[in-house]
Amino acid sequence: MFELTDKVAVVTGSARGLGQAIALRLAEAGADLALCDLEAGWVQETADKVRATGRRAECYAMNVADASSVTEAIAAMLKDFGRLDILVNNAGITKDGLLMRMSEADWDAVLDVNLKGAFLCTKSVMRTMMKQRAGVIVNVASVIGLMGNAGQANYAASKGGLISFTKTVAKELASRNVRCNAVAPGFIRTKMTDALDEETQNAMKNMIPLSRFGEPDDVANVVVFLASDASSYVTGQVISICGGMVMQ
Ligand SMILES: NC(=O)c1ccc[n+]([C@@H]2O[C@H](COP(=O)([O-])OP(=O)(O)OC[C@H]3O[C@@H](n4cnc5c(N)ncnc54)[C@H](O)[C@@H]3O)[C@@H](O)[C@H]2O)c1
Repeated sequence: MFELTDKVAVVTGSARGLGQAIALRLAEAGADLALCDLEAGWVQETADKVRATGRRAECYAMNVADASSVTEAIAAMLKDFGRLDILVNNAGITKDGLLMRMSEADWDAVLDVNLKGAFLCTKSVMRTMMKQRAGVIVNVASVIGLMGNAGQANYAASKGGLISFTKTVAKELASRNVRCNAVAPGFIRTKMTDALDEETQNAMKNMIPLSRFGEPDDVANVVVFLASDASSYVTGQVISICGGMVMQ
């Protein structure tokens, strides 16, 4: 149903975690993958897994916070693949701390990767998508961008900004048949959540109506839906993937 055969997808920060899961699901739906992370070697494992599905994967170094790095990597992708159909702005970092103690450097670092990164990558692919009269952008935000969180002022601002950015891009590019949506994951099971003691995990699960953490594939499945024509009438939306923790 979520058919992506021969589409070319760029997933930023696809060396591990949600980025790797998203890349694999897109490949399983038929897409070829332009994989990128801070170092090209870091996405090798993801590339091997994508190729095992029978799809093409190429690896690129790209620092999403650096304009020339983004321009160079996107130009190389276009040269290699000849088109770009899907952009998943997934790369993201945290530098948590209460506002009282948050340094300017930690504020800037998180905003640069999580928000400016999406701006730079979107700017670099939008001309190609507009010319093609087709394209899909999916931004990986967070429920924290909707509800805020003590100790994450920088992260919450970056993800809240990313959600507003998503709506604006959707409005600007709709006439060229380019859609832009965001996903807002909640607690997704990662090495980080696995390391928490049982009591803390249970306290977190008590806040989730579905009473479990999400799996990376729970996020990847929604991204594949948003990347496919099954969502052809959906743009400018934010889909929370959080077991019902946030209901808009
Ligand atoms: N894991 C969760 O529970 C969760 C919840 C909500 C939102 N998210 C969001 O999902 C996305 C992926 O999170 P994750 O948990 O997989 O994180 P992760 O740390 O496992 O992976 C992030 C990837 O981004 C890369 N990256 C970091 N800075 C980069 C830069 N400047 N340029 C290019 N790549 C860079 C990292 O090298 C890494 O491979 C992030 O945007 C995060 O904010 C995650």
